[in-house]
This record gives sequence, structure tokens and C-alpha cells, in this order.
Amino acid sequence: MKFITILGARPQFIKAAPVSRELRKRHTELIVHTGQHYDKNMSDIFFEELNIPKPDYNLEIGSSSHGKQTGRMLEKVEDILLTETPDYVLVYGDTNSTLAGALAACKLHIPVVHVEAGLRSFNKKMPEEINRIMTDHVSEYLFCPTKTAVKNLENENVDAKIINVGDVMYDAVEYNRQLAETQSRILENQQIKPGSYHLITVHRAENTDDPIKLSNILDAFAQIEEMKVWPLHPRTKNKISEYGLDLSSIPNLKIIEPVGYLDMLKMESNAKKILTDSGGVQKEAYFVQVPCVTMREQTEWVETLEDDANILVGTNTDEIVQAVIKEVEPSYKPYFGSADAAEKIVEQLT
Ligand code: UD1
Ligand code: UDP
Repeated sequence: MKFITILGARPQFIKAAPVSRELRKRHTELIVHTGQHYDKNMSDIFFEELNIPKPDYNLEIGSSSHGKQTGRMLEKVEDILLTETPDYVLVYGDTNSTLAGALAACKLHIPVVHVEAGLRSFNKKMPEEINRIMTDHVSEYLFCPTKTAVKNLENENVDAKIINVGDVMYDAVEYNRQLAETQSRILENQQIKPGSYHLITVHRAENTDDPIKLSNILDAFAQIEEMKVWPLHPRTKNKISEYGLDLSSIPNLKIIEPVGYLDMLKMESNAKKILTDSGGVQKEAYFVQVPCVTMREQTEWVETLEDDANILVGTNTDEIVQAVIKEVEPSYKPYFGSADAAEKIVEQLT
């Protein structure tokens, strides 16, 4: 069978890697990169490190407002689908590239396969929530990472084949963890000792596009004495500069460029705590069993909240600081499957 995979943003490269590897053992796959992410360290680095086949098409859409970005993708994806006439279109997660791929395909009556289906934050102000709902409702196959995701879809009476296969990001972590430990030199290069630092990522629109929230977050970092390493997402870098916020008053802070997946895994595994608003990073913290503090009002990954493995704090400065200081001893449960989600997906599709 012929599959077209549509992706475009950093987390999708990581999710697609294990599925692509399995899929190509038995089927034909073409990759369409929308170009939503385009900096080398937001895109190419993942294709190289994770051995993802080079995209067959790069639409070079780049950054713009939601409507423009999604619309431009939609138009170009449609042309490719009309030329290539695949049996299935595969999309991942919840970005504008996911929505554009799903919409283009379903209007041409090409069955859509959504991987990481059924997640809900129940906050429709988040662009990701709209992308997830829309994509799930036009897909024919919904591969869910957790039981909660299955329940969410059942509650919405989604008319599709719904299957809990576990989380493809768990596949990716298990596949690359040892490699990261032996190959990554990021700790030496940054001169940081294992267990001595907090790892930070912040990029969600609901935090970065609100100067008050973003400065509350920075104020919290300023009150945390320990070493902090922060690979800075380009969106956040731009917003910090646009709002004239000052990072120099934050002690023991290492701001670095976004890193590749192996460096990221190595930094996550050896961190004291992880402070994030990322969906993927919350889960990876759980997989590598490092306590997490999530600077958002809701999380889709509710399983991670059990036992304080992940503390949801919003963007109140004091609450962030208290959660980081708090001593926790979580236990971790196999909520995310057994790191064979990609195999299960391909088995089902075959
Ligand atoms: C997108 C997804 C978000 C996901 C995130 C992963 C949507 C609506 N949002 O957010 O769900 O969590 O990717 O990282 O799809 N930029 C660069 N270089 C790049 C990419 C982006 O400089 O390679 C800058 C541009 O200024 C751009 C901004 O980052 O305007 C935002 O990029 P965009 O792709 O629109 O959204 P993300 O915030 O990355
Ligand atoms: N990631 C990375 N380098 C970085 C920051 C994140 O490789 O500098 C990886 C991270 O390990 C995870 C994914 O990117 O696998 C998460 O993507 P992101 O946080 O951009 O998006 P989200 O998951 O919130 O949609």
C-alpha cells in the first residue's frame, strides 16, 4: 500500500521516526514536509540523527498566522495528493501541519490515519486543541497513546476505528536512550554535571504570547538558585526580545540554541527536574523518570500528574518556585504502553 506522511514541526519528526522505520518494511511511504519548522536545529537535525528518510516534498510554507499558514499548506498538500493518489494519509499530533494534512486528504476521500489521537486539554483557546478535535473527527484510524485518549474519543462519539497502541514517543525514547547516553557530549560541552541542573523548555503560544505570563515565568526562574539549562525555542526568543524582557537577572542560567534529539534526551535523563510547557517533554520526563513541573493551566497528559511525577502549576511565579523546590518521590506506571506502538500501528494498517 502507498502511504503519504505529512509532517512539519519538531515533535512530528520524532513521532514519525519509529513509525516510518516499521512502515517501510512492508509498504511504500512518501514524506511531505510542510516546512512549518525550517531552522536546521528545528528540522534537518532530526532527519539526520533519527535516520528519517529525506522528505519527498518540502512545501517550504514557513511561519505566518494560523489561517495563512494552514491555508497555504492545504493548497499545496492537495496538489500532491492528487498527483500521488495514496491509499492512506498519515498525520501526527496537533500542529497546523496535522490539520492541513488531514483536511486535504479527507476532502479527497483519502482515509486519514491520526497518530497520537484523542488527546484533550479541554481548552479551545489553544490552537493545538482545535487541531486535535478537527483531525480526530475527519480521520478513519485513530491510534491513541493512552486509555484516557480512547475515552475522550468515545465521549465525543467519533466515528472511526479507535485503537490504543501506546505512545510512539515512548518507542522513540526507548530506541534512542542508550545511544544518547553514549554519543551525546552535551553535558561536557555545557560544563554541567549530571543531576545538578534543571532543564527548561518554554514555547507554548498561551505562555509566550502573553507578556505577563512570560515575565511571571522568568521571575520564577530568577528565584531558583540551581543551575538551569534552557534550549530556547525561536518563538520564545523572539517574544522575549519583542517584550524587552531581561534574562541577565536570572542567576545560573545557560541559554542555548535548540538541540538535537540525542542531546535533549541526555539532558532530560540527567536533569534534577524538568520545567516545561511542552507536551512531548512532559512525557519524556515521565519516561526517563525525572520529576517534571508543567507551566500550563491544563495538560492532556493527565496520567503524568499522579504521585507528583508531574506538577501542573500554571504561570504563577510562587507556584512555579514551590513546585520546583518540593521534594517528590514518584512511582512510574506503564500508562504509555510497551514501546512497540509503531509495530502495532503498522500491523493494524496492514
Ligand atoms: C508549533 C505548534 C505547537 C508545537 C510546536 C513544537 C501549531 C499551531 N503550533 O508551534 O503545537 O508545540 O510547534 O515546537 O502548529 N520559528 C523559527 N524557526 C523555525 C520555526 C519557527 O524562527 O524553524 C519562529 C517563527 O518566528 C515563528 C514562530 O517560531 O513565527 C512560531 O512558529 P510556528 O511553527 O508558527 O509555531 P510554534 O510556536 O513553533
Ligand atoms: N526537543 C529537542 N530539542 C530541543 C527541545 C525539544 O529535540 O531543544 C524535542 C523533545 O525531546 C521532544 C520534542 O522535541 O521530543 C518536543 O517538541 P516541542 O516541545 O517543540 O513540542 P510539543 O511536544 O510541545 O508539541
